Amino acid sequence: TLFTAPDFDGHERVIFVTDAATGLRAIVAIHNTSLGPALGGCRMWSYAHEADAIADALRLSRAMTYKAALAGLALGGGKSVILGDPARHKSPELFRAFGRAVDALGGRYIVAEDVGTTVEDMDAVRTQTSHVGGISAGVGDPSPKTAAGVLIAMKAAWRHMTGSDCMDGVRVAIQGLGHVGASLARMLSVEGARLVVSDIDTDRAQSVAVETGATRASPDAIHRADADIFAPCAMGAGLDDATIPELRVRLVCGAANNQLAKARHGEALRARGVVYVPDYLANAGGLIEVARTALGYDAAEADARRARIADTVGEILARAEREGRATSDIADRIAEERFARA
Ligand code: NAI
Repeated sequence: TLFTAPDFDGHERVIFVTDAATGLRAIVAIHNTSLGPALGGCRMWSYAHEADAIADALRLSRAMTYKAALAGLALGGGKSVILGDPARHKSPELFRAFGRAVDALGGRYIVAEDVGTTVEDMDAVRTQTSHVGGISAGVGDPSPKTAAGVLIAMKAAWRHMTGSDCMDGVRVAIQGLGHVGASLARMLSVEGARLVVSDIDTDRAQSVAVETGATRASPDAIHRADADIFAPCAMGAGLDDATIPELRVRLVCGAANNQLAKARHGEALRARGVVYVPDYLANAGGLIEVARTALGYDAAEADARRARIADTVGEILARAEREGRATSDIADRIAEERFARA
């Protein structure tokens, strides 16, 4: 069913990797390399079904192609998933075996960390291949830079909507307080935003709430918090037929990949009068950092490229209003034009 799977979008290569000695089971999906090598993180997750892992790899790798193209990077899109519970099934040997599989792709795919994997894991990958970003000897954990990019995107959208990008007193609901969400919460709290936060990990939610002065909401209620902005920073597909009608915010802007359950939910948000910053635009800050090694630019250039996220947000929001179309559709078209032309 792979070639007719709904998430299969003409991917160039999808590779299944196993290693009996370490129990490694992984999928590497290379979506498109017309702009350059496919760069994308490795997610480790205990998927309920193998089909979920395949769908995740296909959707995430496709989003990376769009993300790189919209960020103006000479990179393609790819992503990998390791099937397993990061808390129980990790070992340096497993990541070394995975590193050998990445190396066998000869640079066509460049890996980095994602949900469930860390800088330490990428260091183990690095012992077997040079085609890895986000290692301790390189840029390290990109999450704070992802959060910085989300904040840039959020302020640009808020400025577009209200004329001001001052976050003082603005009410922001953050779903997921992991590497990116917690970092975003700290940055917003420094800027005076009033936060309501949620995580399925209640200890984490409590510690971030105490640190940032946020109030807490339950995981099933955070999307309908009485706030101005909703920032999804957990897993994807949270914006769907059930949650969109319940939103009370004016703006959705967060780090999670693949926030729209279906492409049509971009239009559903527009129809409800909710401004949506396309996820792969808002969360490109980490990719821009990880790409430094592969594309050879320095930290200052990475900051400049992240700052340009604001310009792209402004352009896309303005064009969406002019044309009466969903921001997600506009972003997709711009990205597609870029990688189709290459
Ligand atoms: P993480 O694994 O560190 O954090 C995710 C957090 O979400 C965890 O604390 C988890 O307990 C929580 N969570 C899961 N389901 C939840 C739910 N239903 N309600 C509330 N909380 C829930 O992951 P990280 O790195 O912070 O990434 C977050 C999202 O941003 C992911 O979708 C990831 O793909 C995306 N992203 C991350 C980047 C990065 O630099 N780390 C870059 C671009 C995108």
